Amino acid sequence: MAEGKTALSCDLMSETDDDAARAAAIWHSETQIRDYLADTEKRERARRPQWDFMALLLPFDDDATFTFADLGAGTGPAARAVLDRYPNSRAVLADFSRLMRDEAAAVMQPYEGRFEYVEFDMAVGEWPAEIPRQLAAVITSQCVHHLTDERKQGLFVEIWQHLAPGGWYLNFDPISSSDSLVDETWQRVNERIEPAQQQRRLNPTQEQNQRHEEHVRHMLPLDPQVDFVRAAGFEAVDVYWKQLDYVIFGGRRPA
Ligand SMILES: C[S@@+](CC[C@H](N)C(=O)[O-])C[C@H]1O[C@@H](n2cnc3c(N)ncnc32)[C@H](O)[C@@H]1O
Repeated sequence: MAEGKTALSCDLMSETDDDAARAAAIWHSETQIRDYLADTEKRERARRPQWDFMALLLPFDDDATFTFADLGAGTGPAARAVLDRYPNSRAVLADFSRLMRDEAAAVMQPYEGRFEYVEFDMAVGEWPAEIPRQLAAVITSQCVHHLTDERKQGLFVEIWQHLAPGGWYLNFDPISSSDSLVDETWQRVNERIEPAQQQRRLNPTQEQNQRHEEHVRHMLPLDPQVDFVRAAGFEAVDVYWKQLDYVIFGGRRPA
């Protein structure tokens, strides 16, 4: 992280411009999105238990009527888990990638009438009016790690501001470790669970390599992120689930 920031500060472009260009190279690229989505079935099978668990963590009765937002929603798999568990809920999906949004249109078809999809760049703190304030919950899955530390902090505050009192925020994301032995252990065990990960690490395609660089660029250890959530004003902040380098953490806006 620190090294990356030093290198960036030498660039002519500002970190923000540079970040935006890198992110665009991934999430606004047809080739990249096709490559990323090629693994959708496998990825969704592996992560569905965590998305279901996020839905379970939300403190609503199964028949409750409420609106939540899924930021950086992609094709909406996390939102679908919540919509499935709470048949009277409504979702606002938000993402800055038009290609993801187009892809979501097909998979979200069965939920027609229960969601809207809005354009939103989380790297910029300007929320579109279509994302209501007074949300009952906000979820993020596999996207906050793409943001700079400054924007992670800003986003957590903005999420707090868009929640109704008592509303919950949950984030499912990968984390880094400052301990290289811990990092090695995570990698070793992950590659035993999914041997294809080793293949990708040793012989990545150009697209995988580019995505990996973007994936790790702003990735942060767990503790500072949990501190950011507390500092934003949330209570009941906890790491509600963790396996190796994947965590679900969050809290609620005081009632
Ligand atoms: C790894 S995908 C995860 C998608 C989905 N949430 C999931 O869990 O499968 C990352 C998503 O974050 C979105 N994303 C990345 N940076 C973003 C930003 N600055 N603003 C909004 N969306 C962003 C990408 O377009 C992409 O859809």
